[in-house]
Amino acid sequence: MKKAYIILSLGLSMTLFFHCGVKKKQASAGKDTKSMPVTGPSMTQAEIAQKRWPGTTQAQLDNGNTIYHTDCKKCHDVPAETKFGEEKWGQILDAMAPKAKLTEPQKSDLKLYILSQREYLLNQ
Ligand code: HEC
Repeated sequence: MKKAYIILSLGLSMTLFFHCGVKKKQASAGKDTKSMPVTGPSMTQAEIAQKRWPGTTQAQLDNGNTIYHTDCKKCHDVPAETKFGEEKWGQILDAMAPKAKLTEPQKSDLKLYILSQREYLLNQ
């Protein structure tokens, strides 16, 4: 009776050991995909933003979207997000954020929105 119990628990722990080993392999295989291109056509704007700027929330992107299509439109129409490169957008936002009287968090949300939307559109 005792022997059977020992054999049973031995078998169980071997199964668990094997199971964990398989799981570990899968986890490291997942890591390898990190060396692949950062974004792709199947990714949503939020996925792109979260991959490039970890911690970005959908609320930030929504806020940036609203700012772009309201505050930034007070003086002129706004161009497509794809019109400028990332560096140029940085310069434009440095010049325009004070004109639109944006706070630092608002400016940062707007930048996250514009750059991720730009990349999303360019990937399509
Ligand atoms: C108070 C009015 C005003 C507001 C608000 C404003 N802009 Fe402008 N914007 C201007 C003026 C004036 C120009 C053209 C002269 C210049 O570049 O300063 C301009 C030019 C631009 C250009 C063209 C730059 C280029 O090099 O072709 C872009 C893009 C732009 N604004 C984006 C924005 C964005 C994004 C916002 C919101 C953060 C914004 N603007 C808010 C007045 C404004």
